[in-house]
Amino acid sequence: MAQFDALKVENIQSETEDTVSISFEIPQELKSKYNFVAGQYLTLRKEINGEDVRRSYSICSGPSDGEVRVAVKQIENGLFSTFANDQLREGEVLEVMPPMGNFTFESDASRSQHYLLICAGSGITPVISIAKSILEKEPNSKVSMLYGNRTAEQVIFKSNLDQLASSDRFSLHYIYSRQSVDGGLHEGRITAEKIEDFKSALDFTSVNEVYLCGPEQMIHDVSAKFEAMGIDKKKIHFELFTTTASNEINEVKRSSTSNFSGESSVCVIVDGEEIEFTITDGSNILDAAMENDADVPFACKGGVCCTCKIKVVEGEVEMDVNYALEPEEVEQGFALACQARPKSARVVADFDDIF
Ligand SMILES: Cc1cc2nc3c(=O)[nH]c(=O)nc-3n(C[C@H](O)[C@H](O)[C@H](O)COP(=O)(O)OP(=O)(O)OC[C@H]3O[C@@H](n4cnc5c(N)ncnc54)[C@H](O)[C@@H]3O)c2cc1C
Ligand code: FES
Repeated sequence: MAQFDALKVENIQSETEDTVSISFEIPQELKSKYNFVAGQYLTLRKEINGEDVRRSYSICSGPSDGEVRVAVKQIENGLFSTFANDQLREGEVLEVMPPMGNFTFESDASRSQHYLLICAGSGITPVISIAKSILEKEPNSKVSMLYGNRTAEQVIFKSNLDQLASSDRFSLHYIYSRQSVDGGLHEGRITAEKIEDFKSALDFTSVNEVYLCGPEQMIHDVSAKFEAMGIDKKKIHFELFTTTASNEINEVKRSSTSNFSGESSVCVIVDGEEIEFTITDGSNILDAAMENDADVPFACKGGVCCTCKIKVVEGEVEMDVNYALEPEEVEQGFALACQARPKSARVVADFDDIF
């Protein structure tokens, strides 16, 4: 299937002691395919120790930077992030899937908005792209950013951010959890209490949109705080890189939505090809499709990215978890194949028609 393109690694830069950024050489014929909107991610694929490893990485370059670059922070014992930091070299070829994702920002030069960007650790990657896009393309808008790290050494893109902060439309606040700075405001983790503390330094009442990327707990606490402060839920956007959702939570969601347990005849449409199979054991559509040799797209298999997005064109499915699709998309019949289990005797799922 033509989901992946073989792209040459053009440049690798060491950003911090455990993070590298990687840019790709995009051949002329693929340029339009790799045009991206700030906030989107790429899925990278590599066979590591005989395993087909696919991981998503948010694009950290701005849409007008003239390059497609991602940054990979090394996770302890992490398969792909260790490979990217320790072994990957310029000139090597990786399989790459074109930009995807819902955590996006599309600029409009006529807007005059106050955007609040909150991130921690590698969560800066989509957020710096969004910040650049706002500052470059919306001359009347301003940006406030809270960026959490353990210490200043861990700050990814520090010099780039400091440079952006020379604009009087960009208010940048680093927050350190293991380094003392000012005895309070800029120390600790980004929590609901920290937002409360920042009321003295930031005018939250003028915020129009919030973009959050970082640990699940931070996203959860801070979104709840903003909702309690009266910011419309629809204006609070977030991107999760990983989830610790326990089986217990998944099972509650599963049992609360449906008790369908019968046999389902499933057809998946991939690259125009129709593949038919039967699900009898409650498997999700992605796993069952793969077992039936369908070359279907996926990355996280955890309901976090949306690489496995499908349109359910016939029948019903239920998802165990969904951290990637907007409620409107679910209403329109979109689902995540890695989380979708048949809820009707016949299901037709289209991997091609996902926009
Ligand atoms: C939409 C999206 C965008 C992403 N963008 C970026 C990005 O820009 N930069 C980036 O560095 N990562 C990003 N990620 C995370 C990335 O896809 C990988 O999950 C991460 O690099 C770990 O992969 P690995 O193969 O090294 O670790 P694995 O071998 O998959 O995991 C090793 C261990 O680490 C745990 N783990 C996995 N991810 C994390 C994490 N993020 N934090 C803490 N523990 C973790 C796993 O549960 C496992 O126990 C993104 C994820 C998604 C879904
Ligand atoms: S593969 Fe990431 S949501 Fe399904």
